[in-house]
Amino acid sequence: MAVQISPSILSADFARLADEAKAVEGAADWLHVDVMDNHFVPNLTLGLPVVQALLKHATLPIDCHLMIDDPDRHAPAYAEAGAGSVTIHVEAAKAPVRTLRAIRSAGARCGLALNPGTAIQAYEDLLDEVDMVLLMTVEPGFGGQKFLDMVLPKIRRTRAMLTARNTYRGPQSREIWLQVDGGVSEETIERCADAGADVFVAGSAVYDAQDPARAVRELRDQAERSTARAAWHSA
Ligand code: DX5
Ligand code: ZN
Repeated sequence: MAVQISPSILSADFARLADEAKAVEGAADWLHVDVMDNHFVPNLTLGLPVVQALLKHATLPIDCHLMIDDPDRHAPAYAEAGAGSVTIHVEAAKAPVRTLRAIRSAGARCGLALNPGTAIQAYEDLLDEVDMVLLMTVEPGFGGQKFLDMVLPKIRRTRAMLTARNTYRGPQSREIWLQVDGGVSEETIERCADAGADVFVAGSAVYDAQDPARAVRELRDQAERSTARAAWHSA
């Protein structure tokens, strides 16, 4: 899969979301929307009404990252509203298979997110139910945190699991993507790409830049160069 960049609007101006979405059109692949409920994480952002409003104005597909308790109850509505991808946290889901299937049957790609301290091994059997694994590279809740290098071995392990599945699945099926989120910047994106990530969320690295579209293009160039050299990619 080609490199994809998903700018996080968590670092954008919330009073000008439609303009901020436009600022990365033509450069980015997705718009990453962080939904936080002040329970699963200690921060409160936005919910379904704002996502619905954004869907009317944004031309990029919306990549919803739900950092909320009880995603089993709330997640399908984001897919029904028209989000292109909906990701739930494995630490919060009680019935991940049912919820992931509900997201897919509402027409969105479904993602499963793991916090930095959550091991992937326990969830290997779930991989056939997902379209994307999101490995958090910071503790979720806030933008602008420092990238956690401790997650890199997990990115490699997950990529090995996905390579086996993506090969076996064949061209008819959807490829499973590997997203990283948290502290992804020009300093760290090459390490992530080298370890096996192919979808890169970047909040502050994009929206704190003078020219967000240019920041996206530069991150993509770096990730593509690193992917082309990576052992997992050429294997
Ligand atoms: C953090 C969010 C991220 C956040 C990333 O919990 O899930 O999407 O916006 O921001 P940066 O790229 O600044 O670390
Ligand atoms: Zn996120």
